[in-house]
Amino acid sequence: MQEIEADRGRFRLTRRAVLRTGAAALASGTGFARAQAAARPIPVGSAAEIGAFRNDARYREALKRYCDVVVPMNDLKWDALRHERARFDFAGADEAVAFAEANGKALRGHTLLWGEALPPWVKEMTTRAEAERELVNHIEVVVDRYKGRIATWDVVNEVIKYDPTSGGPWRDTIWQRLLGPEHVEIAFRTAGRTDPKARLVLNDFHFEEAEPGAAARRQVALDICRRLKDKGIPVHGIGMQAHLYAEKNIDTEGLQRFMRDLDALGLDVEVTELDVIDWKMPADAALRDKRSAALVATFLEAVVSAKRPKAIVTWGLTDRYSWVGETFPRKDSAKARPLPLDADYRAKPMLAVLERYRRGTA
Ligand code: G3I
Repeated sequence: MQEIEADRGRFRLTRRAVLRTGAAALASGTGFARAQAAARPIPVGSAAEIGAFRNDARYREALKRYCDVVVPMNDLKWDALRHERARFDFAGADEAVAFAEANGKALRGHTLLWGEALPPWVKEMTTRAEAERELVNHIEVVVDRYKGRIATWDVVNEVIKYDPTSGGPWRDTIWQRLLGPEHVEIAFRTAGRTDPKARLVLNDFHFEEAEPGAAARRQVALDICRRLKDKGIPVHGIGMQAHLYAEKNIDTEGLQRFMRDLDALGLDVEVTELDVIDWKMPADAALRDKRSAALVATFLEAVVSAKRPKAIVTWGLTDRYSWVGETFPRKDSAKARPLPLDADYRAKPMLAVLERYRRGTA
């Protein structure tokens, strides 16, 4: 059994897989190296919700079994770290980071700047100087604490207006109100100065749908990153949250163009919060699971056919714990089924789709 190093994980590439790749290469006429490169495993992972992590042994076992990457779902947000202005509370984040390190998982940090999940005192800030001082201090303290341990940061999350075609590109947040567009530059510059080895990502949603708004958001994300690079401010990639709506179509061509544009800017891409919002689908579980797996496959194929993401991360592992059911309540009594495992940790078709990328056979 040959082991190969791939990105941040060690994967076992069986002799059979090597022969299959070689055979495919010969059959399709492509170079073996190119075919093998195309089959390189992609680290797959999940967000970890601290309550489930602490109280459910099956949750911890599932993270160990199915993840190469772990991201603390809420513990690195301002409302978890900064209950009081003068104090940082790293208990939850330290616990999640320790678990990931003890189990050989790569870590993503989420998130250094967001307009939500803020403690009340942040919204009391009134001046530019105060906002900049608090933002820089927060990022310096948090990034320095996990320097060399959290490899990738969602430096900013959801800074793009939902529909940027009307009234400018920026989402209305306290950071935008007090600092203007420079809030993004301050965040990336501070994170890059604090941990020059970390990969720094702009994370956002609504990039993948076949809708004008999604195309406009892709363009704004590229423009933001281009301006950062032009100013010599470190930025390494874009995170596509990829909360996929079951009733919407994936813009395959638009995503492939987006991937080529990222390549042209020398930027990476990662899938950071993948799940399926299935509230508009029929109640039948088997039907929903099949359709959701197919939607995830279509989305990932659109991305990977043009550019290999640094990671594919789902926003949770099991339907037992997900934001989707509460946020998108179904009209019937059926429960949401957004994730790769059902509420009793049984594998669903979506898991097989992810595992193909994790093994490098997709
Ligand atoms: O753990 C406490 C619990 O002790 C308390 O009793 C309860 C009631 O106050 O709150 C619990 O914390 C909640 C936490 O979720 C539990 O998981 C927080 O109030 C609640 O705000 C938090 O919501 C999270 C939300 O972001 C806001 O931070 C969701 O779990 C999380 O899935 C969601 O994730 C976001 C990403 O960060 C950004 N992209 C969208 C995504 C979905 O909204």
